Amino acid sequence: MNFNLSEEQLMIQQAARDFAQTELLPGVIERDNQQRFPHEQVKKMGQLGFLGMMVDPKYGGAGMDSISYVLAIEEIAKVDASAAVVMSVNNSLVCAGMEKFCNEEQKLKYLQPLASGEVIGAFALSEPEAGSDATSQQTTAVDMGDYYLLNGTKNWITNGGNATYYIVIAQTDPEKKHKGINAFIVEKGWEGFAIGPKEDKLGIRGSDTHSLLFTDVKVPKENRIGEDGFGFNFAMAVLNGGRIGIASQALGIASGAYELSLKYAQVRKAFKTEIINHQAIAFKLADMATSIMAARMLCYKAAVEKDEGKDISEIGAMAKLYASQVAMDVSIEAVQIHGGYGYVKEYHVERMMRDAKITQIYEGTSEIQKIVISRSIVKNSK
Ligand code: CAA
Ligand code: FAD
Repeated sequence: MNFNLSEEQLMIQQAARDFAQTELLPGVIERDNQQRFPHEQVKKMGQLGFLGMMVDPKYGGAGMDSISYVLAIEEIAKVDASAAVVMSVNNSLVCAGMEKFCNEEQKLKYLQPLASGEVIGAFALSEPEAGSDATSQQTTAVDMGDYYLLNGTKNWITNGGNATYYIVIAQTDPEKKHKGINAFIVEKGWEGFAIGPKEDKLGIRGSDTHSLLFTDVKVPKENRIGEDGFGFNFAMAVLNGGRIGIASQALGIASGAYELSLKYAQVRKAFKTEIINHQAIAFKLADMATSIMAARMLCYKAAVEKDEGKDISEIGAMAKLYASQVAMDVSIEAVQIHGGYGYVKEYHVERMMRDAKITQIYEGTSEIQKIVISRSIVKNSK
């Protein structure tokens, strides 16, 4: 594995860093306070190619590799984890899944505007009674000949209020269990499709999370993704890549909190010296830097293996499991290093601590990542 970043990758990293500093940082505290979606910033992210980073330019994407994607999400999440999840969902769960599994017509109609950032998308798998246990889908899609009739409720959907196109997973044939599940592209505004109120969250408050309600929504047959019964395998394949995006978001939260803490410890004085001269603080920073580096290496390895076309279910789960723990641990320590100043909004680290928690929950909780990893290591040991 080559650890040197190419010139192009370094350029993308710098572009994301500059964008985060100039466009995201100025309003990030207000957006968090007011639960305000970063509309203008997301539009600009689209113009910079950050919303369809790995998609072929012929479908409106930027045609970059997965390392570039990790680098860009890390830089965005260092400053604004809410903007990073908008980016991760659109890139990994919506665009990547469409590019790999949709037919040409679907790609031209839906992927093109999504990858170019003209509109954003959402991915709706979770339900009130089916989160970790994702095969227990209660949303139904009854085959009516030319169309499917969609009924049910999806919960916790990121970009739920602001998306134009939604990938919706539903059960068509319960007797076949997960082999009876399908994935559909659903458009905002279709009759019978309603969006529930915005959730009032602990963290990532700038991103919008909604339930989606479907009552007799007619979904044309041509909007099904893949063969009949492919929906669950589609969702799992998409989530394997998605977990790299969330791992990178977690990495960004951790490195943002660490960088602020390092700067603070070099200027804040207590007992007539900068606090970094107290070994208890220096050692915290040493632990933070070490765990962040380890998380970064897992993200890079997962990204490289994805581009090599390898099965990334295990390494993607490892990256997410580890990086999300690092985000939590590092952001808690960042608040500690800042003392009382860490507890108020102005210094950013309290927000980072609140934002970190979700990375251990969505796209599969840490317990679910351990299920994925343990099943994989058992399978590979035979
Ligand atoms: N990669 C590929 N295929 C997988 C897979 C993976 N990681 N995990 C399971 N599968 C496949 C299995 O191979 C099997 O397919 P076949 O029958 O064709 O072989 C099928 O899925 C069912 O697998 P299991 O029998 O293992 O199913 P299970 O019910 O025991 O457990 C699970 C599956 C891993 C727990 C799965 O339900 C899961 O991942 N749950 C978590 C759901 C999740 O991550 N939700 C995220 C929602 S999106 C989101 O959260 C976005 C956001 O916040 C921003
Ligand atoms: P549950 O599945 O009820 O789990 C509760 C607890 O039990 C967890 O600690 C879990 O780890 C544990 N548990 C469950 N089963 C097991 C087991 N077998 N072994 C050990 N422990 C277990 N979903 C989408 O589809 N699209 C989105 O865009 C999206 N965005 C989200 C944004 C936010 C802000 C949030 C909060 C959630 C989002 N989700 C989304 C949903 C998210 O993926 C689920 O919340 C998550 O998968 C967990 O499901 P659950 O909340 O139903 O918890």
